[in-house]
Amino acid sequence: MKKIVSLVGARPQFIKEAVVGAEARRRNAWRHVLVHSGQHYDANMSDVFFHELDMKQPDHFLGVGSGSHARQTADVLVKFEALLLEEKPDMVLVYGDTNTTVAGALAASKLKIPVAHVEAGIRQQPKDMPEEINRVLVDHLSAQLFCCSNLAARNLAREGIINGVSVPGDVMYDLYLKMRHRFTPEETRARFGLEKDAYIVATIHRDFNTDDPHALAAILDGLNRAHTKSGLEILLPLHPRTRKRIAEFGLEDSLHRLRVVDPIGYLDLMSLTQHCAAVITDSGGYQKEAYYTEKRAVVLMPDTGWRELVETRWNLLCNTDAERIAHTITTALEDTPRPEDLFGNGSAGNHIVDLIIGISS
Ligand code: UD1
Repeated sequence: MKKIVSLVGARPQFIKEAVVGAEARRRNAWRHVLVHSGQHYDANMSDVFFHELDMKQPDHFLGVGSGSHARQTADVLVKFEALLLEEKPDMVLVYGDTNTTVAGALAASKLKIPVAHVEAGIRQQPKDMPEEINRVLVDHLSAQLFCCSNLAARNLAREGIINGVSVPGDVMYDLYLKMRHRFTPEETRARFGLEKDAYIVATIHRDFNTDDPHALAAILDGLNRAHTKSGLEILLPLHPRTRKRIAEFGLEDSLHRLRVVDPIGYLDLMSLTQHCAAVITDSGGYQKEAYYTEKRAVVLMPDTGWRELVETRWNLLCNTDAERIAHTITTALEDTPRPEDLFGNGSAGNHIVDLIIGISS
């Protein structure tokens, strides 16, 4: 039986591993060794996902924690290489676009261990955003590339990557379907003191939005204006990076009229999204999860890797101008036809396991 090491470290990766790892174990497809880099370490950024999503506890914990890009990436690289030399797996599985992903792919490929990349082929501007740098590098190092859509496969072909590319769909859609019966929108919004359809869920954590004081101030101003204009509450689960920057830039006063809470787990977030009026986010994953829950999202980015969602006008891109943010939210509250089946049919995990063990192509 093959041995495969799966590397995770940040929230969006726990969510993806919850599908592929569970499917591999259910089918006893290979010996699945789970490694947690420790990039995310707070209980509400990490443990909550392992509990809620019934994930296997990691076999190894690298404990890298936070740091500059170079330090964090280098720390995973060194520690993961040592672990690979010990474990000697047949393949390494990486997810998404974080510093953990790029370090994992680099360590494995230098040891000539084939890399499989879940969520390959996503491309967006600006080219210098950390996640984009990570995606391009990981895709060029990978032997098997699992895409969420045909567009992602075409992006890879444009860069000359053709071998090993497949389009199983989005594992996050699988997870949404699998966990849907556990969403409790009424109970959850009552716990947060919110009324059905009377609130917007907002999340902000991208470096280009949080680390520039003007951008962050404009976004918070935009959220306040949206609250005034629409009469909707703005629920803002605050990522630790964003909380830190708000304090550093002295922007706490902008939070008074927003409903600020600590980061929340998958079940609470999906439950709250089911009863919200709309979503505002700069998260790659959450803009897609909004679509799965049939909510429109205003995406606070100059561009998105999920172009299918903006080309159909389901999601709306918006720059960091306060008045534009408030205006775009008003547009997102309007009804519009929802595009269907953009990212597969909910069996991506099963398909990925088939592809890895070589029973489909
Ligand atoms: C990372 C990913 C991003 C992903 C996001 C999900 C990279 C380059 N970026 O961004 O693609 O969308 O995870 O959240 O890998 N912190 C804590 N506790 C934690 C984790 C982080 O306090 O458990 C704080 C630290 O101050 C840290 C900062 O948040 O410096 C940023 O964390 P980091 O993991 O470096 O990047 P994210 O912004 O979370």
